[in-house]
Amino acid sequence: MTSGLDGALPLLACPVCAGELTRRAGVVGCPTGHRFDVARQGYLTLLGAGSRTDTGDTADMVAARQEFLDAGHFGPLTEAIVAAAGAGPVLDLGAGTGQHLRAVVDRRGGIGLAVDTSKYAARRAARAHPRVGSVVADAWSRLPVRSGAVGTVLNVFAPRDPAELVRILTPGGRAVIVTPAPEHQVELRGRIELLAVDEDKADRLAAALGPGLTPAGRTSVHVVMRLSRSDVDRLIRMGPSTYHLPADRRRAAVQALDDLTDVTLAATVSVFTAPS
Ligand SMILES: C[S@@+](CC[C@H](N)C(=O)[O-])C[C@H]1O[C@@H](n2cnc3c(N)ncnc32)[C@H](O)[C@@H]1O
Ligand SMILES: [Zn+2]
Repeated sequence: MTSGLDGALPLLACPVCAGELTRRAGVVGCPTGHRFDVARQGYLTLLGAGSRTDTGDTADMVAARQEFLDAGHFGPLTEAIVAAAGAGPVLDLGAGTGQHLRAVVDRRGGIGLAVDTSKYAARRAARAHPRVGSVVADAWSRLPVRSGAVGTVLNVFAPRDPAELVRILTPGGRAVIVTPAPEHQVELRGRIELLAVDEDKADRLAAALGPGLTPAGRTSVHVVMRLSRSDVDRLIRMGPSTYHLPADRRRAAVQALDDLTDVTLAATVSVFTAPS
C-alpha cells in the first residue's frame, strides 16, 4: 500500500455500512467485516451495492489526458485551482490522473484523496504524489467518505452530487468546482465534431448547488493554447466527444489542421462554502 493511501484512510468510510476503515495485514476493512481490495498499483476500490463504474474514462482517454496535461497546456487552470483551494484535507472528486490535486497538495501542504470511478484514472492518481491516496468510487452513490472530514473538495469537469459535497465537507469547508465556459475549444468547433458547451453552465451550477452550498466567488480562466496536431488529437481523445466521434473521422479532421492551431481554454472556477 502506498503511504498516500495510509494517510487518507482516516477520511474513508465503508461503502456498505459507513463504518470506519482500517488496514490490518495489508487488508482494508471495517469492524463489521466488509473487506476491500488494494490493487497492486496502490489504489483502493470502495464500491457499494448501487455504485457504477461505466461512466468512468477509458484507458485511452486517461492516457491521452496524462500526456496532454504533462505538456503543461492546462497549467493556468491548475494555478487557478491552487489559488481557490481552502484548508485540507483535499478531496478531488472525478480526479482523473490527479494532476490538479497533486499541485494543490504539493503547494498547500496536507493530504489529498483522489476519487474516480475509472480504475485507469485511479492507477495514475495513486502515483500522483506521496501524500495523495487514490480510491475508485462513484460520485452518484453515497461517497465512501466520513461526514465532515474534508476541508476542500475539488471537482474539475466531473460529476457531483451536491448533497454529498455538503455531507463530507467540514463546517465552513470549501467546494472548488470547475466548469467549461462557452468559448472552450471554440476554434475546433466546425472543424471537428465536438460536443457543445452549455451557455449558462456556471449559472446553472450555482442554482443546482443551492441552498446547501453558498457561492463565494468565481474566477475565469481564459488562455489561448498553441497546439500541435498530436496535442489536438489528445485533447479530443481525453474528452467526452471521443464517445461520439469515430477514430477515423477524428484522425482525418486532425490531419486537415495546420501544424499549429490556437485553441482557447475557457473555464469558470466557482467557489462555494458549506454551512458553518
Ligand atoms: C473530464 S475528466 C476530468 C478529470 C480531472 N478532473 C481533470 O480535470 O484532469 C472526468 C473524470 O470524471 C470521472 N468520472 C466520470 N463519472 C464518474 C463518477 N460517476 N464518479 C466518479 N468519477 C467519475 C472520469 O473517469 C474522469 O476521470
Ligand atoms: Zn462495513
